[in-house]
Parts: sequence; structure tokens; C-alpha cells
Amino acid sequence: MNKKILVTGGAGYIGTHTCIALHAAGYDIVVYDNLSNSSREAINRVSILIGQPIDFIEGDIRDAESLRQAFVDHRFFGVIHFAGLKAVGESVTKPLLYYNNNVSGTITLLEVMRQYNVKNLIFSSSATVYGDPKFLPIDESSSRSCTNPYGQSKLTVEHILEDLAVSDESWNLIPLRYFNPVGAHPSGQIGEDPNDIPNNLMPYISQVAVGKLPKLSIFGNDYPTIDGTGVRDFIHVTDLAQGHVAALDYLKQQTSIEEHGSDEKSSDKKNSIGFLPINLGTGKGTSVLELVAAFSKVSEQNIPYHFVSRRAGDIASCYASADKAKDMLKWRAKLSITDMCQDTWRWQSMNPNGYDGSI
Ligand code: NAD
Ligand code: UD1
Repeated sequence: MNKKILVTGGAGYIGTHTCIALHAAGYDIVVYDNLSNSSREAINRVSILIGQPIDFIEGDIRDAESLRQAFVDHRFFGVIHFAGLKAVGESVTKPLLYYNNNVSGTITLLEVMRQYNVKNLIFSSSATVYGDPKFLPIDESSSRSCTNPYGQSKLTVEHILEDLAVSDESWNLIPLRYFNPVGAHPSGQIGEDPNDIPNNLMPYISQVAVGKLPKLSIFGNDYPTIDGTGVRDFIHVTDLAQGHVAALDYLKQQTSIEEHGSDEKSSDKKNSIGFLPINLGTGKGTSVLELVAAFSKVSEQNIPYHFVSRRAGDIASCYASADKAKDMLKWRAKLSITDMCQDTWRWQSMNPNGYDGSI
């Protein structure tokens, strides 16, 4: 059975954790990454953790020739597509870069996949496609809208995937809508390594705790939430990685029913996955202040903070309905906020300079 997976963006934060989970589940992986937001050191550490070298191709998803070569050299069952740029603020100042990388890059990848008849894809989407949700918890049928180019690029790719599934039912396309991934591998060897001053809450808190940044600015304390600060659905990155394995297992199972099912079954359209969006979240909301308190307790560090005005584009509360993932993928997040803080803290304190320092 073909268990070879192309992992675009596999050198990044979520990609590295997913490579480890895929390897443990018996999948063969080939990582394709241009290292624009990651490093060879991340790949080295994944190799050490899995006990064998990683098959790594340094390449850009917008480079069709280089992608084609990967498909000539390997026979893939499917692709997990993490490669993309993800900084919301930067996307506002560089929209063309974001649309080019995230949208044009994905179109190039899909064209090459079609050329080599590899039509199984798991795509990194985001809860950002729900915009300001009309109800909570957010389920997959909620309306979608985005206000910044990063979010638009994710939504546009989702629309492209929907159209593709309509045009040709042999595609199996699963956008996974991540809520707020945090945490790190329990070994402390891999984790999130922001290039600059972090934009997101958890890396900011951990850099304050380790003494790299003086204090946290909390964006708003007047939201209609439990304590006035924003509420998010934080999910441990290893749970998230396991969600990709579950989605891939589901895809494999469904497509093998198609290949090997009875005549009646193989003509049954239910076995064609088409476009199947699934939330990956815990279903539980945690406020900014609650996360700060949890991190402070775990790390035994004081985390100075002050309140500043709301950040443009932020919403009050956002958490997932995780029912679809539970019902269809038989997956649910298992790790707690304490686990998320503990593993982030281990990674941060063992690697105060991320992958740049040595351990
Ligand atoms: P990351 O930046 O750590 O990883 C992305 C990887 O893609 C990097 O290694 C980067 O070098 C690579 N890459 C970028 N553009 C590329 C290109 N044109 N060709 C080849 N490689 C390229 O980000 P992450 O946090 O691991 O996120 C992975 C995916 O999940 C992204 O698509 C992101 O938008 C999405 N996502 C992330 C979050 C989050 O909070 N981290 C939330 C929702 C969705
Ligand atoms: C942000 C992005 C979203 C992206 C997600 C994961 C914006 C508007 N949204 O979501 O598109 O999918 O990251 O990458 O950027 N906070 C502070 N101080 C900080 C940082 C954050 O108070 O220094 C607060 C925020 O106001 C928010 C919460 O912490 O209430 C979480 O913020 P963050 O980690 O940036 O995630 P999101 O805003 O959910």
C-alpha cells in the first residue's frame, strides 16, 4: 500500500510536529520547503527524533519544474500542504506576496498533482476564515469572511478547492481549519521559532517568561468575555499533528473502499470525499489572562503585563465545535492548557534563541 506523503512546508512549526506523527503512524514522508520561514536545523532535529534521515527537497511551491521533479522521483499517495506565509500584519503591507505565495503557489501545486494523478490533499486552513463568528462554538457550516489578505488567501484557496471538487469528483480535498496551535514537542527539541518579535500570544508570553521581552501587552480588557480579555481555542501542536494523521487515515480508508469495494459500493458517491472542511480545535475557550496565569504557574516565572487598546481586526471569542472531527476522523484533542504551557516552556527554556542556538 502506498504510504508516501509529500509534506510541503514540512520544516515549519506545525509541519515538523506532523512529520514526527506521520512517521510514528507508518507513513513515509518527503519534505518540500523553501526554508523561507524555517531552518535546516529543524529538519536535523526531526531526523534525530525519528531516528533516520528526512527525505528533504529544498524548493518553492511556485516552482512547477522543481515540484514536477519531486513527483517524478517519488510516487505519492497524497500531499499535506502546510507551505504558506502566515503573518497577518505583513500580509496587509505585502498583499501581492501573500496572494502569490499562498494562492498562486497552491494553484501550481494542484496543477502538478493533477498532472501526476495524485488527487489526495490535506490543506492548512484556519479558523480565520470564519471572521467574526455569528455563534459559538463555530461549526464547519458557519459563514465565512475575512478582513485581511492572509485570511483572504486561505479563503480563496478553500474556494478553489471547492470548485475543483465540483469539476472532478476524483479529488479528495480536506481543508483542516486550525484554531490556535501552541505548545511544542515534549522532548523540547522542536517548537515554534518566530523570526522577529512574536505576533501571537503564546510565543510572546514565553519570551517574556524567559526574559527576552520585558512585558506582555494585552490587547483589550473590555471584551464581553469572562474577564474582558480575548478568548481563544488553544490546541496543542502535537494534538494538531495527530489530527493530520487521522485525516490521512480517513482519506486512505475512504479511497481504498473506492478501489476495493463491491460494485455497488464503488459506484456509491458517498465514498468520494470531494471537499471536506474540518475544524481542528479543542472546543474549549481560554482567555488571555487565563493563559498568562497558567503559564506563570507552570514556569514559576512572573509575567509582567499591561493592558493596551484592542488590536485592529481582533474578535472577542473564538472556539471550535470539534464534533465533526470526532465523528468522521475519530480524533479529538487530548492535551490540556497546562500541557501546552509546560511544553512551550520546555522548548523556550532549552532554546532561548530558537534553532539559532545550540542545545
Ligand atoms: P511556518 O511558517 O512555521 O511553516 C510554514 C513553512 O512553509 C515554512 O517552513 C516555510 O519555509 C514554508 N514555505 C512558505 N512558503 C513556501 C513556498 N512558497 N514554498 C515552499 N515552502 C514554503 O508556519 P506554521 O505555523 O507551521 O503553519 C503551517 C500552515 O498552517 C501555514 O499555511 C499557516 O498559514 C497555517 N496555519 C497556521 C496557524 C498557526 O497559528 N501557526 C494557524 C492556522 C493556519
Ligand atoms: C491570529 C491571527 C489569525 C491567525 C492566528 C494563528 C490576527 C488578527 N489574527 O489569531 O489570522 O490564524 O493568529 O496564527 O492577527 N494577544 C495579546 N497580546 C499579544 C498577542 C495577542 O493580548 O501580544 C491577544 C489577542 O488580542 C487575542 C489573543 O491574544 O485575543 C490571541 O492572539 P493570537 O495568538 O495573535 O491569535 P489570534 O488573534 O486568534
